[in-house]
Amino acid sequence: MTNKSLAKRPEDTCVLVTGGAGFIGSHTCVELLAEGYRVIVLDDLSNSSKEAVRRVRRIAGAGGERCAFVEGSILDRDLLGRVFAENDVDAIIHFAGFKAVGESVEKPLEYYWNNVAGTLVLCDVARAHGVKNVVFSSSATVYGEPEFVPITEDCPKHAPTNPYGQTKSMLEQVLSDLYAGDGEWNVVLLRYFNPIGAHPSGLIGEDPKGIPNNLVPYVAQVAVGKLAAVGVFGDDYPTPDGTGVRDYIHVVDLARGHVAALRWMGGKVGTGEPRGLGSVAGEPAPDGTRRGVGIFNLGTGRGSSVLEVIAAFSRACGRELPYVIKPRRAGDIAVNYAACDKARDELGWVAEYDLDRMCEDSWRWQSMNPDGYAS
Ligand code: NAD
Ligand code: UFG
Repeated sequence: MTNKSLAKRPEDTCVLVTGGAGFIGSHTCVELLAEGYRVIVLDDLSNSSKEAVRRVRRIAGAGGERCAFVEGSILDRDLLGRVFAENDVDAIIHFAGFKAVGESVEKPLEYYWNNVAGTLVLCDVARAHGVKNVVFSSSATVYGEPEFVPITEDCPKHAPTNPYGQTKSMLEQVLSDLYAGDGEWNVVLLRYFNPIGAHPSGLIGEDPKGIPNNLVPYVAQVAVGKLAAVGVFGDDYPTPDGTGVRDYIHVVDLARGHVAALRWMGGKVGTGEPRGLGSVAGEPAPDGTRRGVGIFNLGTGRGSSVLEVIAAFSRACGRELPYVIKPRRAGDIAVNYAACDKARDELGWVAEYDLDRMCEDSWRWQSMNPDGYAS
C-alpha cells in the first residue's frame, strides 16, 4: 500500500500525537496547532493528565478546536483501528512510552512491553491504514558513553546501560528495518538531548510524579520550597567544575523541531541531497515527499554543568538555591552535548533559547503550578 502524502498544507494534514498529553507532547501540540495542523492526541494518561490537553487548547485559542483527544493506549489494537478508521491520519508523532531510567531497571518487562510492543502495535495498525510517516522520540541515550563530543549523528551507538535506553535503541532499529523492508516508509528519528523549560505562558510544563529523577524538575521543587536542597551527583568528573555536563534544550525549541521534521518529510525544506550522517535516503515519492530514515540530534550544541544549571535557576527565582555534593549516580556519563549542524542544514531548525530562558520559563510554570496539574 502506498504511503499517505505529506505534500500538502498543514490545514489539510492530520497528525496523530501519541503521548500528546505528556511534557514534550503537549508542547509539540501547541506548535502544531499554531502552524495550522489538525491534531489527535492519543494518551492513556499513565504519566499525564487531561488538564494538559485542556491547557494546550487554551493556549491555541481558536486553533484549539483542531485538537481532538482520545484516552487510551497504543497497545489497544481495536482502539487504534477505530482512530485510524474514523480519522484521515497522515502522520504520527510518537511520544508515548515510559521514560524513567531507574524504574526501567526494576520493571524491564513493563518497559519493553509498553515501549516496544506498543510501538509494534501502533506501526502495524498504521500500516494497515496506509500511514507510514512516523516521527519517533529517540534519545541521546542511544550513544551510550559517547566516543566523542560534540556528538554527531554518525557517532557509533553503544549499548545503553538500562532497559529504557535499550527500548529507544531497539525501536530505532525496528523503524529503520520497516523502511528497509518497504520503501514507502518515511521515518524520522529525533535524538533529544536534555529537554527542560516550559511554555512561556506558564500553563503547561513538566509534571513528574513523586520525587523528580531529573535535575531541573528537582531544582524547581527546591526553588518552590517542596524539597530542601539539590543533591549534586558527583563533583569529581573531568569537567571544568567537576559536575556533569549536559546539553539542555528548551522544550519549545524541541517541539518546533518536530514541526520542522514534518515539513522536511513532506519535501518542503532541505536540499534534496542524500541524507548524510546516519540517515538512509530513499527515492522521494513522485509528489516530492521523502522516503527513508532521517536521523537528527535535537540539542543546542552547548554543554552546561550541574552547578551552572543551579546558578541559572537561582537567578531565575531570585534566591541562592542550596545544594549538597553527593556521590556519583550509577550509569551517569561525564559530558554529553550535541552537534546540531545536521538539523540546522537539513531541517532548517536551530534552538533559540538559552539556559537562563529555560530556567525562567521552568520557574514560571513551577511557581504558577507548585503541584503541577493538580494545583
Ligand atoms: P511524558 O511521560 O511526559 O510523556 C509520555 C506520555 O505518553 C505520557 O503522557 C503518558 O501518559 C503517555 N503514555 C505512556 N504509555 C502510553 C501508552 N501505552 N499509550 C498511550 N500513551 C502512553 O514524557 P516526555 O518527557 O514528554 O517524553 C516523551 C517521549 O520522549 C518519550 O518517548 C520519552 O522516552 C522521550 N524522551 C524524553 C526525554 C526527556 O528527557 N524528557 C529525553 C529523550 C527522549
Ligand atoms: N543530576 C544531579 N542531581 C539530580 C539529578 C541529576 O546532580 O538530582 C545530574 C546528573 O548526574 C547529570 C545531570 O544532572 O549530570 C542531568 O541529569 P538528568 O537526570 O536530568 O538527565 P540525564 O542526562 O541523566 O538523562 C537524560 C534523560 C534520559 C536519557 C538521558 C540520556 O532524562 O531520558 O538523558 O540521554 F536517557
